[in-house]
Amino acid sequence: LIPVIAIDGPTASGKGTVAHKVALRLGFHYLDSGALYRLTALSALRRETDLADEHALAKVAEHMQVNFDGAEILLANDNVSAAIRAEEVGNLASKIAALPAVRQALFAVQLGFRRAPGLVADGRDMGTVIFPHAKLKVFLTASTEARAQRRYKQLIDKGISANMEDLLSDLKARDDRDTHRAIAPLAPAEGAHILDTSNMTAEQAIEEVLSLYAR
Ligand code: CDP
Repeated sequence: LIPVIAIDGPTASGKGTVAHKVALRLGFHYLDSGALYRLTALSALRRETDLADEHALAKVAEHMQVNFDGAEILLANDNVSAAIRAEEVGNLASKIAALPAVRQALFAVQLGFRRAPGLVADGRDMGTVIFPHAKLKVFLTASTEARAQRRYKQLIDKGISANMEDLLSDLKARDDRDTHRAIAPLAPAEGAHILDTSNMTAEQAIEEVLSLYAR
């Protein structure tokens, strides 16, 4: 059986960095499931899909041509690694992620990432819905303030101006949508190890996940 490590948690909890590095350390594949929702959002914007049409959005999710090539993400051969990180795309991703037909369309796509020798999957419902039998489940979290600080630093490091107050309110809105939606709401999976990284460096969180896996 191909092992899966499911890492779930709220926005800006550091999941992406931790999951990616854990995958590198173990030589496992890496699934950034949030990127699939972002790709669906970007694809819908580019195709001018009716954003009120759930069925049309699900079709976009099902048929988009995605390629994860190392650190690069390609959408029909177009490198969209930067484009999918735009706030506008993230916000739309979080809205369409509440649509059952879209989640259903991305279900099989996500299962396809489980390949030998193993997979580290990062998202909101990896341990609850997509890989409920994962060998290790981690719920990575941090205080709202710590997460807003991290996002702030990320943006400033990229030369993008940021406002702490806007970031905090955006983060709370995203948390609220993710935890209160009817389908696959964000919550720790049964058997998940809860890791609060408010006072941890990324390195410490990576080591902690690796040691949980080695147990
Ligand atoms: O960067 P951030 O953590 O905000 O977002 P992301 O992980 O790139 O995911 C974008 C959006 O997709 C999130 O706001 C979630 O609402 C949604 N998502 C989801 O519903 N289920 C997943 N497994 C992953 C992401």
